[in-house]
Amino acid sequence: MHHLHLVHAIGRTPMVELRHCSPKPGVHLFAKLEGWNPTGSVKDRIVREMLLGAEREGRLRPGDTVIEASTGNTGIALAMIGRALGYDVRVVMPENVFPEIPRTLAVYGAVVEWVPADQGVRRAIEVARERAEREGWLFLDQFCNPYNVQAHYETTGPEILEDVSHVDVFVAGLGTGGTLMGVGRRLKEVSPKTQVIAVEPHPGNQLQGLKSLADGFIPPILDFDLLDGKILVRSRHAFRAASELMRREAIFAGVSSGAVLHAALRVAQRLERGNVVLVFADNGWKYLGTSLWTSPPEADEGEELDDIIWW
Ligand SMILES: Cc1ncc(COP(=O)(O)O)c(C=O)c1O
Repeated sequence: MHHLHLVHAIGRTPMVELRHCSPKPGVHLFAKLEGWNPTGSVKDRIVREMLLGAEREGRLRPGDTVIEASTGNTGIALAMIGRALGYDVRVVMPENVFPEIPRTLAVYGAVVEWVPADQGVRRAIEVARERAEREGWLFLDQFCNPYNVQAHYETTGPEILEDVSHVDVFVAGLGTGGTLMGVGRRLKEVSPKTQVIAVEPHPGNQLQGLKSLADGFIPPILDFDLLDGKILVRSRHAFRAASELMRREAIFAGVSSGAVLHAALRVAQRLERGNVVLVFADNGWKYLGTSLWTSPPEADEGEELDDIIWW
């Protein structure tokens, strides 16, 4: 790999303290801003690792086609890195993804294949696998691919430790589980007492990029022994937290970052002091078409009780 190649622009994202969100003077919240990656999400890291891994193993040659199932960020990361490294890219997606996603894929020259909205990303995974087998393409398979976890173990985890040497609690969204597994393993090697908390959508709620384990599909790369807990977040609360994040901290992040912030504040309520590190997986651009910024959901008295929101 040559120096100064576009793939080296991935990672080394900023860590910032959320000074206006912490509920107590002794509790410090730090957010790793993955939206600062070249395509605006944490997925640039794992796609680079999965493609370079396949190249090293001789499973990928110049001009080959790579296919992946995605509802957004991984597809866009693949479209960018595939183009930069000389591969044709195909992304299989459900028809209900945000319209900015297929538009961005088209800009990068990736081909989109659709599956019906009601069949979701699980059907997209099946289609991608079948197409790859039939055509001899490489199926990236982020839910099963160990390079997904390795990318976070090798890059995100060490970067976090450079900025925050002692992490009491680590909070991240659960999609494939790659972030939680890779960073969690790295942090626990340094201090075994670090708590690793997964953020999931409340059953029946949709949160772009995150999945509920209650829907029956457990990502194969997920190792429950590494998790110390999980927090279920409703879409409404995630939207409101994303909007508060803009108001208080001027950070323009996506919906899953709102969910992570909401969950981290619940954790913070239970601490007297300590460092809590959050991963904000993407930036806010692709959510501009939603009403998130213009009319965030109102606080709802009844349900606030179980969710311990302090603002
Ligand atoms: C917006 C967003 N947030 C969070 C995640 C979760 O990351 P991971 O797949 O590492 O669990 C993803 C990816 O699935 C995502 O696209």
